[in-house]
Amino acid sequence: MSWRLDEELGGADEAPGPAVAIAESLRDVSLVRRIFYFPEIDSTQQWLMHLAESSASSRGLHGVLVVADYQSAGRGRFGRPWMAPPNRALLFSLGLVENSREARFSSEEGEQGIVAAMLAMVPVAVCEAIRERTGLAAAVKFPNDVVVEGRKCAGVVAERCVRFPSVVVVGVGINVNIDREELPPTTHVPATSLSVEGGRHYDRLELLQAVLTRLDWWWHRSSMQELVGKLNEMCTTVGRRVCVHTLSATVEGVALGISERGGLLVRTEQGISKEIFSGDVVELDMAPTRCEGRIANATGERDEA
Ligand code: BTN
Repeated sequence: MSWRLDEELGGADEAPGPAVAIAESLRDVSLVRRIFYFPEIDSTQQWLMHLAESSASSRGLHGVLVVADYQSAGRGRFGRPWMAPPNRALLFSLGLVENSREARFSSEEGEQGIVAAMLAMVPVAVCEAIRERTGLAAAVKFPNDVVVEGRKCAGVVAERCVRFPSVVVVGVGINVNIDREELPPTTHVPATSLSVEGGRHYDRLELLQAVLTRLDWWWHRSSMQELVGKLNEMCTTVGRRVCVHTLSATVEGVALGISERGGLLVRTEQGISKEIFSGDVVELDMAPTRCEGRIANATGERDEA
């Protein structure tokens, strides 16, 4: 395994500690090949997308990890802001290239290809890591939230690079040691943090290592079928009555499960089955109100979920 450590902002003389510690802790994670650490940045996702879009080839983008302690313009799905106070959240983006030598997920797995695979794989890895490091009962809320007792503690975004469609940039934000009063306002699901749920603080580096170790395992060893099996087990949405706000419609019905293409299968009251890849899901039997409204700030990007 070879990785390169690239420290941005601060420089090696000023802030070698976190970057070196990250690199050390990921020594056995072969998925990560190159690491950039920023004490502060606008958005790890934006930075890596920009690197991808301005690269001459996609070859060097696989395994590029960007970690930050603070983002001034973090962004979530549908262009929504993603906010967290400095040094309390785990914030990173990772570049992955479809059909790279070891990838087991190709566009043949379904028309959504690697984006759907990543939106299955990354929340599963985050859930597993949270369970392992904190003992909290983390679960996936389709498509990209990680929740504890129905409250969102982490989010995942996956974006395909326009210049190189085989490149996907995955972004993960985990509310680790954020106090209740500091949690950001949320839209379709209440927010929480691991420290609020667990009543203690957790080591962000250990959590990063656990997430990437699980991701490395899934990336190298699993098929979409195995992954979707795990996701169906870990997903709180499955079996519930749901209302899904997609960019073009609102669908209400029972969530039957997640398909092998990574879509949520919903049976409506009219008995029609729909497969949904992207949208805001309200789990009606947990929600205080019924299904209303549409996605706010939607950007219309097809590959984003
Ligand atoms: C969501 O729930 O909408 C997804 C949130 C993803 C946020 C992470 S934080 C690290 C990375 N950088 C960003 O700007 N966004 C992702």
